[in-house]
Amino acid sequence: MKKELINKAYEAMKHSYSPYSGFRVGAALLTKSGKIYTGCNIENSAFSPTCCAERTAFFKAVSEGEKDFSAMAIVGGKSGETSEFCYPCGVCRQVMAEFCNADFEIILTNGKDIKAKKLSELLPESFKL
Ligand code: THU
Repeated sequence: MKKELINKAYEAMKHSYSPYSGFRVGAALLTKSGKIYTGCNIENSAFSPTCCAERTAFFKAVSEGEKDFSAMAIVGGKSGETSEFCYPCGVCRQVMAEFCNADFEIILTNGKDIKAKKLSELLPESFKL
């Protein structure tokens, strides 16, 4: 399952629209029912409208009625070079915390090794209203 999710993230990275940073990211989000939603980063010349790959995937899924998630794979790097682990930014971690439990799994790879982190490790004591 981890491998399949990672492969989907690599596929999504091909669609990255990142002409300003050159940093290409792909994400693949697994629902508890076994569906996969993918996303890439989509940049904008005004910079702040840029959306990360992770949030693209979450917003696609939530907008189609999904709310139960078990894992997300993320790959990325400068010019699509993915030899380093690509951790999700703080904003995307907060979006994960909105929809996912502490045991939501974040799967990362540097092309050689695979790391799996719990959301509670990447965003402990997160903000909740
Ligand atoms: N980016 C992501 O897609 N996900 C992250 O978690 C961090 C950053 C994107 C946003 C922007 O297009 C580029 O990487 C450089 O910040």
